[in-house]
Amino acid sequence: MLKNQGSYWRKLPMSSIQSLFDDCAVDYDKTFSRTFLGGYYRSRTHRVFDKYYSGDSRILELNSGTGEDAIYLAESGSQVLATDLSASMLNVINDKVARKELEGKVSTRILDLQDLDQMAGSKFDGVVSNFGGLNCINNWRKFARDAYNLMNDGGILFVCIMGPIVPWEWLWYLLQRDLAEAFRRVKGKSSWRGEDIYYPKASEFKKIVEAESFQLVYQEALGTFMPPPYTNKHVEKWPVFYRSMSKLETFVCQSNIACHLSDHYVLVFKKC
Ligand SMILES: C[S@@+](CC[C@H](N)C(=O)[O-])C[C@H]1O[C@@H](n2cnc3c(N)ncnc32)[C@H](O)[C@@H]1O
Repeated sequence: MLKNQGSYWRKLPMSSIQSLFDDCAVDYDKTFSRTFLGGYYRSRTHRVFDKYYSGDSRILELNSGTGEDAIYLAESGSQVLATDLSASMLNVINDKVARKELEGKVSTRILDLQDLDQMAGSKFDGVVSNFGGLNCINNWRKFARDAYNLMNDGGILFVCIMGPIVPWEWLWYLLQRDLAEAFRRVKGKSSWRGEDIYYPKASEFKKIVEAESFQLVYQEALGTFMPPPYTNKHVEKWPVFYRSMSKLETFVCQSNIACHLSDHYVLVFKKC
């Protein structure tokens, strides 16, 4: 997979992935953010924000989707520039921001993750990419270099990425006799509605970002014992099972092995 990171990566065409996410924008909160597991996983990422972003940080949020994190960070006192490729996602954010009267704290802008160099000259205390935007590109080395250039010394880079090895997913789809779906991530690349999605291992992503003078300060697995968000309807019906799994997950989630075997992993880097 590191082949993708060589000097011969090319910029991926974005118009079709943009329209795919435009189509998801209106229902995104209903189908992910407001679901039981979506809320559970997001609240865990917010605990990481609480630890690493002080109230008055200036934050660049990438692939911000419907702005659940931008709103959270703004309500905790930060100034947020929320960016995404999808104009429809940004429209959802703008509506939320207006409803909550956060215009002074959150602004929005269309920005491709592959074009962070367009922001040259701006400086942020934090750069955030939550829940899989980075799986839509494969030029992570350029991403890391550009993010580095946009950050103040000591700044914090937060990423949350879908991993390639997810035993829960294997079990889930094997029970449905869907071999292709069960193992779709293991090669590090799959197709979603005709678009390529990439799944770097946590160890690979760490290496790439650390090569750009970032230091890893925290890691957390999301979905090692807890099932992936798409199992939501079933998990809601098994509260005892879910509580036990979430306890187990809390116990192991900061280990390398858990980050290796999880639906998503969170990595937090400090600019040295
Ligand atoms: C799964 S959603 C995650 C949204 C949000 N971060 C969250 O936590 O809910 C992925 C987002 O990445 C955005 N995205 C995909 N490719 C992108 C790119 N190349 N540049 C910027 N945003 C991109 C999509 O438009 C979508 O809003």
